Amino acid sequence: MTPTVIQTAPIDGQKPGTSGLRKKTRIFLQPHYLENYVQAIFDGIGGVAGAHLVVGGDGRYFNDRAIQVILRMAAANGAARCTVGQGGLLSTPAASHLIRKLQATGGLILSASHNPGGPDEDFGLKYNGPNGGPATEAVTERIHARTRDIDTYRIIETQDIDLDTAGETTLADMVVAIVDPVTDHADLMETLFDFDAIRALFAGGFRMRFDAMHAVTGPYAREVLETRLGAPAGTVVNGTPLPDFGGGHPDPNPIWAKDLMQAMHGADAPDFGAASDGDGDRNMIVGRHCYVSPSDSLAVLADLAHLAPGYAAGLKGVARSMPTSCAADRVAAAKGIDCYETPTGWKFFGSLLDAGRATICGEESAGTGSDHVREKDGLWAVLLWLNILAVTGKSVAALMADHWARYGRNYYSRHDYEAVDSAAATGLIDALRARLPDLPGTEAAGLTIAAADEFSYDDPVDGSRATGQGIRIGFANGARLVFRLSGTGTEGATLRVYLEQLETDPGRLDRDPQEALTPVIAAAEALAGIAARTGRTAPDVIT
Ligand code: G1P
Ligand code: ZN
Repeated sequence: MTPTVIQTAPIDGQKPGTSGLRKKTRIFLQPHYLENYVQAIFDGIGGVAGAHLVVGGDGRYFNDRAIQVILRMAAANGAARCTVGQGGLLSTPAASHLIRKLQATGGLILSASHNPGGPDEDFGLKYNGPNGGPATEAVTERIHARTRDIDTYRIIETQDIDLDTAGETTLADMVVAIVDPVTDHADLMETLFDFDAIRALFAGGFRMRFDAMHAVTGPYAREVLETRLGAPAGTVVNGTPLPDFGGGHPDPNPIWAKDLMQAMHGADAPDFGAASDGDGDRNMIVGRHCYVSPSDSLAVLADLAHLAPGYAAGLKGVARSMPTSCAADRVAAAKGIDCYETPTGWKFFGSLLDAGRATICGEESAGTGSDHVREKDGLWAVLLWLNILAVTGKSVAALMADHWARYGRNYYSRHDYEAVDSAAATGLIDALRARLPDLPGTEAAGLTIAAADEFSYDDPVDGSRATGQGIRIGFANGARLVFRLSGTGTEGATLRVYLEQLETDPGRLDRDPQEALTPVIAAAEALAGIAARTGRTAPDVIT
């Protein structure tokens, strides 16, 4: 089997965003599209001769076909070994763990995360490096540069590999190892959490509902929750991964996980609810009649992680993405540990985790994780919550009340305006940027602006600089407003408006967040002219 060298030409728009290259599936299905990008990854990382790559995805439409192409190209480019999740499945955190455990060269993860799947929906591909984390900005730029001058790719013409049978086979000179995607990750979870305590919790009648949203986490959650922890069968719902996620939007938030929200707010609600996204890296936490915002969840986990054996020694530091609420900062300050503010996207946490500066990281977009892998990890967050619930014996609602009483409450919400005209969205951000120097000291809808800037980040470990990471407005009363454009959307532009208001008055900790944020919402409109510029009078998604 000799590699075939196929002539090709650059294809426009192969620029990775916040998390790899994400496009409409039909774009990925165009001739040479996937092949060009895979070759650009291989070339961008300096070639894969002799490499060991981990390959797997969230099971969405085209996952299996794309893996066959990647394997044939990896073999043609001289890779020594590919480790592939059985059935082509690997959750993003499980892939990150496998790369680290096997000391692989890196991995290719096929997913568009929480975006819907199917021929008319989204597909994505990203490269993770040897630390198991998303490629750094520098590597990402080299990959993108290669997409712009690519002229050939290498592939082997051969039969499909059977992805469904565990074991080793060869493709030309390359070994393909098909491995169980679940066991290693479940074993890692056992090293971090007190499984006996959680087992006792379930044995005592504690009821939980985990909504896998027909995405990749189903098998992982069943193994850990039902098989290893003894939760009753049926605790995991929508547990079979489907190529179109059952027609749903596998994003674990109150909008898209509506069934779970209803169950958790019903008369006979379980004690604890959780959900995860397409590729298993996001999480949603909801107690009986008590939704926990991701920013609050990060703060609670940072506060109480020491109750789990894996974190008993305490945390080295905490990191959050810039738009994430400052609730975690307050915990870090009380504990006297460092708190880092990074740009949006998990790739910016990697250097802090590698350097041992941060133990727990999180984003307002339902991502939380720790230094056990180099990705956010949905099931990990759920297990840490379970461990805390088991040790404290308290309900989610009681834990939240305790937390706010001690630290104050950072009321928080994100308003998304989706598929907005790209020029209008860029115009809105440009106009804000132009006014930044003049804003401090002025008022917006009655709130006094104390600070205004565009966020840039200097990585304290590797010295790299990221600019243009979102407009930040700080108000004299402790409120905060952030505007940025999504880097993961596949249609037009998505404007994200992040709203926050710190409340420390003990009598005002139990309000509806949208109501508590009304003055900040008005300030956002007054400052940015969202309605006039985008033609939208209300957000499409409020989380
Ligand atoms: C979104 C989230 C961000 C997350 C990313 C990948 O990116 O906002 O926090 O890291 O998805 O899951 P965005 O579309 O805002 O660029
Ligand atoms: Zn995801």
